[in-house]
Amino acid sequence: MTVEELIVHGKKYLHSMEAKMLLANVLECDPLYLINILDNVIEDEKIEKYKKLIEARINNKPLQYILGTTNFYGLELTVNENVLIPRFETEELVENTILLIEKVFPDSKNLNILDLCCGSGAIGLVIKKKLPHVNVTMSDISKNALEIASLNSKKLGLETKIIESDLFQNIDNKFDVIISNPPYIGDDEKIDDIVSKNEPPLALYGGPCGLDFYERILKDIKYYLHDKFIISFEIGCTQREAVLNIANKYLKNIEIITKKDLSGKDRMIFIVRK
Ligand SMILES: C[S@@+](CC[C@H](N)C(=O)[O-])C[C@H]1O[C@@H](n2cnc3c(N)ncnc32)[C@H](O)[C@@H]1O
Repeated sequence: MTVEELIVHGKKYLHSMEAKMLLANVLECDPLYLINILDNVIEDEKIEKYKKLIEARINNKPLQYILGTTNFYGLELTVNENVLIPRFETEELVENTILLIEKVFPDSKNLNILDLCCGSGAIGLVIKKKLPHVNVTMSDISKNALEIASLNSKKLGLETKIIESDLFQNIDNKFDVIISNPPYIGDDEKIDDIVSKNEPPLALYGGPCGLDFYERILKDIKYYLHDKFIISFEIGCTQREAVLNIANKYLKNIEIITKKDLSGKDRMIFIVRK
């Protein structure tokens, strides 16, 4: 079969762009390049591989896991089933945190920043890319996730320190900024099948109301912060009040800023002490 025939075949089952991305993945080229090789005849082995990828996608496996990569804030990150697929909302968290860092710490050179619950390293790596002079530490409880974070760090040439830790257990430094997108889905919350059946439960669920990680993190966070600090959290869209209460329970002399995401949902909480 030719490239053109294979695209037509894929389009019977999938959106045209997805079919092209899968085919390009097998042919190890850019999807936009396919237009130049429409008449090329493809070997049987590659056709079989392409059909297997189509089948995986029909069975609702996320495209990012099939391709093994995703784009996050301009960085091409490796992802697999051991890490959450980084979301658009988290790009907004990173963008707003960087703006706040520049405001609170105008000379942001030697800042120490911790990406707690780093997964693929999406947050910490974008921060290191945008603010090359800061020191970024990334930590997670999952060894498998940290392998991906480490691979991404090396692949992108972004130097970070990586620590395997159950929250703060193995952390012994103090930081100027702690940013986290912890697991925040309630244990019984209904979520899309494509998420619950494919993404790691360890990355998703945060106790009965999804608030356990905010409680655990905020309870101990003061021991890991300098006097002046920024804490930056992604939250579930119904958790704003509850997380504010937890923050006020454990921290004094703080300013709290909350922000909605682009779809108008409560999504970010910034806790600042100047
Ligand atoms: C929602 S994911 C966020 C991943 C990444 N930061 C992102 O935004 O794409 C939450 C991460 O928390 C990690 N995690 C779960 N329990 C943890 C714990 N007790 N200590 C540290 N990390 C934990 C999971 O392995 C997962 O990588």
